[in-house]
Amino acid sequence: MASLTTAADAPAVAGTDRFRPQWHFSARRNWLNDPNGLIYLNGTYHLFFQHNPYGADWGNMSWGHATSQDLLYWDEQPVAIPCDDQEAIFSGSAVFDRHNTSGLGTPDIPPLVAIYTSAYSDASPLAGRQAQSLAYSLDEGRTWTKYHGNPVLDRASAEFRDPKVFWYDGGAGSYWVMVAVEAVQRQVVLYKSADLKAWEFLSTFGPANATGGVWECPDLFELPIDGDPADTRWVLVVNINPGGIAGGSAGQYFIGEFDGVVFRSGSTVTEGLQEDGSRMREYGWLDWGRDYYAAVSFSNVPDGRRIMIGWMNNWDYAGATPTGGWRSAMSLPREVSLTRVDGMPVLRQHAVGPFTGTGSPSLRLGPQALAAGVLPVAGPAEVARIDVEFQPGTAGRVGLMVRMSGAERTLISYDVARGTLSLDRRESGQVDFHGAFPSVDTVAVPLRDGRLRLQVFLDRCSVEVFAQDGLATITDLVFPSGAATALAIFAQGEGAHLVGFDVVGP
Ligand code: FRU
Repeated sequence: MASLTTAADAPAVAGTDRFRPQWHFSARRNWLNDPNGLIYLNGTYHLFFQHNPYGADWGNMSWGHATSQDLLYWDEQPVAIPCDDQEAIFSGSAVFDRHNTSGLGTPDIPPLVAIYTSAYSDASPLAGRQAQSLAYSLDEGRTWTKYHGNPVLDRASAEFRDPKVFWYDGGAGSYWVMVAVEAVQRQVVLYKSADLKAWEFLSTFGPANATGGVWECPDLFELPIDGDPADTRWVLVVNINPGGIAGGSAGQYFIGEFDGVVFRSGSTVTEGLQEDGSRMREYGWLDWGRDYYAAVSFSNVPDGRRIMIGWMNNWDYAGATPTGGWRSAMSLPREVSLTRVDGMPVLRQHAVGPFTGTGSPSLRLGPQALAAGVLPVAGPAEVARIDVEFQPGTAGRVGLMVRMSGAERTLISYDVARGTLSLDRRESGQVDFHGAFPSVDTVAVPLRDGRLRLQVFLDRCSVEVFAQDGLATITDLVFPSGAATALAIFAQGEGAHLVGFDVVGP
C-alpha cells in the first residue's frame, strides 16, 4: 500500500524525452496511471489522474489534475487530492452536484464532488481496507476538501474500489448510482444514493466473460443505437488485469439494459469463473492492443456525447517503460457510440480532437494500383494521423510500415485470407526492457464492400489504429529510435488497390 515519501521528483533520464507525446497527455514529471474524475464543466474538460507526485514509479497515489478546452492541449494543474499518512487516493469519478444534494456546497455554489477509493495505510484505523470517500470543490476543481464523514461506503473489503457515479433518471426514479468493483470476486457492485453520502445496495453483476484477472474501473452509461433516442442500450465497461485480450490489462464491455436497479447483459458469452480462455475473442473489447486500460468516460458532457480516455499502458510492464522523469500517457480521448452490425448493437469509437477535423492533409496519394512490394511514402511521419483505405483484391496482405529506420519498423498488416488486422511491434525499437513487451496484437476485421479503412494516430511513443470507422481499435506503445520516422505502404501479392491515403501532421 502506498505511503507518503518525501523523495525528490524523479530525475529526467537523458535521451528519453524524444518519447514525450505531443498529442497525448502525460504528467510533466513522475508517474501516472488511470484517468480519474473525468468531467466537463463550463467549457473546461477536467482530467484527474492516478499520480505519484514524488517519483516515476507507482506509489503515493494521489489525484493529479489537468484541464483542457479542446481535449487535445492540456494544462497540468497542481495536485488536486494528495495522499496522506492515512490513505492513498485510488481511482474514482467526479460529478457536478447541480442541486447541491450533498449539501457540500450551497444553492448558489453547487459543488463538484469527487468519489474516490480510500486505500487505507497501516497508520489508519481502517488499515487494509478499501472504501469509498468524497472530496468536494467549490471553485471548479482548483481546490478540494475531503468530506469529514469519510468513508461514505465501507464493505469491510480489501478490494472494493474505483467508484463511477452518475445521475440516474428513469422508470425507477431519480438518484445517484454508483458502480464499483469487488475486484477479486470479479463483480461489479451497484448502489444508489439521494445525497452521495448515504448509499443503499442495489445489485451485483458478474463474474461474466473475461475473468482471468481482477475487475477494475467500471463504467455504466446509456447510448442510443445509430442515434435513435427511442432505441437505447446501456454499456457496462469492466477493465480487467491481467487476463486482457492481448495479454495483461484491457477493457471489456457488455451491452444490455439497466432498469435503475439491475444491469442485464445481452452480450454475456460465458458466466461465472469457469473461464478457459477459448472464447475470449467473442467478448466485447474496447481495444485489442496492449495499451488501453482503466478506460472510463467523462460526465456532464453536453449533447449526450460520451467521451472516454484510457491509460495508455499495461500493468505487465508499466513500471519498466524506458522514459525518464515521467512515466505513462493517456490515450487519445474517444467518442463512443452504438451502431448495429448484422443486427447486433456494437460499440464504435472515434478519436476526438481538432486534428480529426478537415485539416488539409500534408500528403495525399490518389487512387492507384499497388504493385507487390514496399512503396516508400515521403515522410517524415513521427506525429501524424494517417487515413488510408485499401481494396486488397487478390493480394494476400496489405498494410503500412510506420516509424521505420533500417530494420526498425512497426507493422500494421491486414491478412486477407484470415480477415484479421494486426499491429506488430516486435521490431519497433526498444522492446527488450520487459519480456512481455514485444507483441503482435490481432483483431478480426471483416472487409466492407471489399475495402479496409484505417485511421492511424502516430505519436512519439504510441500507435493507435481505428479500423472500419472505429468498429475495432488496436493501441500499442512503441519506443523507436529518433531516426525512425519513415513511412511505407506495402502489399504482398498482386491485385491490391489504394483507394485513398492522407497524412495529416500536427
Ligand atoms: C487500475 C488500478 C485501480 C486502482 C488504481 C491504483 O489500474 O489498479 O483499480 O484504483 O489503479 O493506482
